[in-house]
Amino acid sequence: MTVRAGREFLAIPGPTTMPDAVLQAMHRPAIDIYSRQMTDLTESLLRDISKLFATKGKSYIYIANGHGAWEAALTNVLSRGDKVLVLESGRFAIGWGNAASLMGAEVEVLKGDWRRAVRPHEVEERLRRDTEHRIKAVVVVQIDTASGVQNDIEAIGKAIKAANHPALYMVDTVASLGCIPFEMDKWGVDVAMSGSQKGLMTPPGL
Ligand SMILES: Cc1ncc(COP(=O)(O)O)c(C=O)c1O
Repeated sequence: MTVRAGREFLAIPGPTTMPDAVLQAMHRPAIDIYSRQMTDLTESLLRDISKLFATKGKSYIYIANGHGAWEAALTNVLSRGDKVLVLESGRFAIGWGNAASLMGAEVEVLKGDWRRAVRPHEVEERLRRDTEHRIKAVVVVQIDTASGVQNDIEAIGKAIKAANHPALYMVDTVASLGCIPFEMDKWGVDVAMSGSQKGLMTPPGL
């Protein structure tokens, strides 16, 4: 919205301010969904997204908010009854864990604190105790928007490897992708998700 004082400036952690070029690009007419132009555009976007995550793996775009992507990530790799270890560092890993729980997973929270990052040695210690490998996935956020905590995703990945545990390593980069480095393949991350409305500076909903 434009007001006499100028354009409204929404100063919250997201949705972030969209550059004019992005706003203007949204004013183009739709293209034919069966055209070559559409498939070429989609494929180039998927390739670019993999580059952003620094992975040789495949990317997918969901028409959903971050909560929808959380759910999509979980349903694609887990089954009902699987155990998930949530690494607390504020509000959002807990939220992802709640989604897992509502979907029938067994959720254990590795207690953290809103004032500090996850401690990798505590992750390693917990995984070492899981001698039967009941934990199928470890979930964590790179930056927790609510607490402002930044977790060391590389160090947690090393801790999972050091414990010699086969759990999938799942990372939420909603508030960090495009803002700070993220190296999915190098850091041993198995599943990563994000949202369009923060570092990517595009409208919410993807
Ligand atoms: C770190 C993080 N994860 C997940 C979400 C959820 O995303 P959404 O609000 O698009 O559902 C948010 C939203 O602020 C977030 O900051």
